[in-house]
Amino acid sequence: MVNKITVVGAGNVGATAAQRVAEKELARTVVMVDVVEGVPQGKALDQWQSAPIEGFDSRIIGTNGYEESAGSDVVIITAGIARKPGMSRDDLLNTNAGIVKQVAEQVKRTSPNAIVIVVSNPLDVMCYVAKHVTGFPRERVIGMAGVLDTARYRAFLAEALDVSVRDIQAMVLGGHGDTMVPLVSYTNVSGIPVTQLMDRATLDAIVDRTRNGGAEIVKHLKTGSAYYAPSAGAVQMAEAIIHDQKRILPCSAWLDGEYGMKGLYLGVPCKLGRKGLEKIRNKKTFSRRRLQSPRGRTPCAESPQV
Ligand SMILES: NC(=O)c1ccc[n+]([C@@H]2O[C@H](COP(=O)([O-])OP(=O)(O)OC[C@H]3O[C@@H](n4cnc5c(N)ncnc54)[C@H](O)[C@@H]3O)[C@@H](O)[C@H]2O)c1
Repeated sequence: MVNKITVVGAGNVGATAAQRVAEKELARTVVMVDVVEGVPQGKALDQWQSAPIEGFDSRIIGTNGYEESAGSDVVIITAGIARKPGMSRDDLLNTNAGIVKQVAEQVKRTSPNAIVIVVSNPLDVMCYVAKHVTGFPRERVIGMAGVLDTARYRAFLAEALDVSVRDIQAMVLGGHGDTMVPLVSYTNVSGIPVTQLMDRATLDAIVDRTRNGGAEIVKHLKTGSAYYAPSAGAVQMAEAIIHDQKRILPCSAWLDGEYGMKGLYLGVPCKLGRKGLEKIRNKKTFSRRRLQSPRGRTPCAESPQV
């Protein structure tokens, strides 16, 4: 357990993430910050009152300022507006860039040693804003999207094959949106390549549904976007860091020559441990060709061996 985790944004993703962090007792204190007066305070009080039932001792605090969050070990940024039907993640750019800039300034001031996990969309650009404004090294500014996209892909595969989600190994890399790349040729079920268990058309349909996984939920909800799986994704990353698990998870990371790219955030396989981003798995494992945008090609066409 670390001393303090702050979640910025007490909306759907943020409040659910704070509850998950507390239930897993990842930190002694969980601080939820939001600009709306009363919301983080009320939600935190409600969450804290679930502690005797759920049996956790992490203390949850809600606030409109950053003083209580000072010295956080990990900060999860979920502040910003969410998509509505018909909107793309890029439509959130201008509003959320301003919000993430404000948040990052406060994080830099009050928690200069924190590891930052960015969730706000459009993800890769918001990671850039957070890194630029805090001036933190790339090891300490990482984005959550690939974990979510991979979870969606695994859930759809488990459903189609009628097997446990635990037995499906997969990775979805690239951007968070229609440029994401589910790595079909690296997908297996307890070691058996998925291509031996499923016909091509079904697999292609699952890849397509994964790409549109967020929009499918927005269409149902009408007033907001997904938050149960996204909050679980952010907390899985926080857990890997806090418990120094050395997990290899698909995260948005600042590339500095890996895969032949430099100076941008992109979803790549990352080793997460106590230092944050400890290593990017480079092209010895995954070829650059597989990370490039699949536009104009079918996803399976990128992996000819499947
Ligand atoms: N990366 C991903 O995979 C992923 C998945 C789901 C959602 N998201 C993104 O996460 C963000 C949050 O989604 P949500 O569903 O929780 O939205 P939400 O509207 O429920 O919550 C957002 C919260 O941010 C707060 N906020 C706004 N400006 C703030 C500021 N300057 N400081 C602190 N708090 C501020 C709002 O008051 C609100 O409570 C959105 O941008 C959404 O697109 C990303």
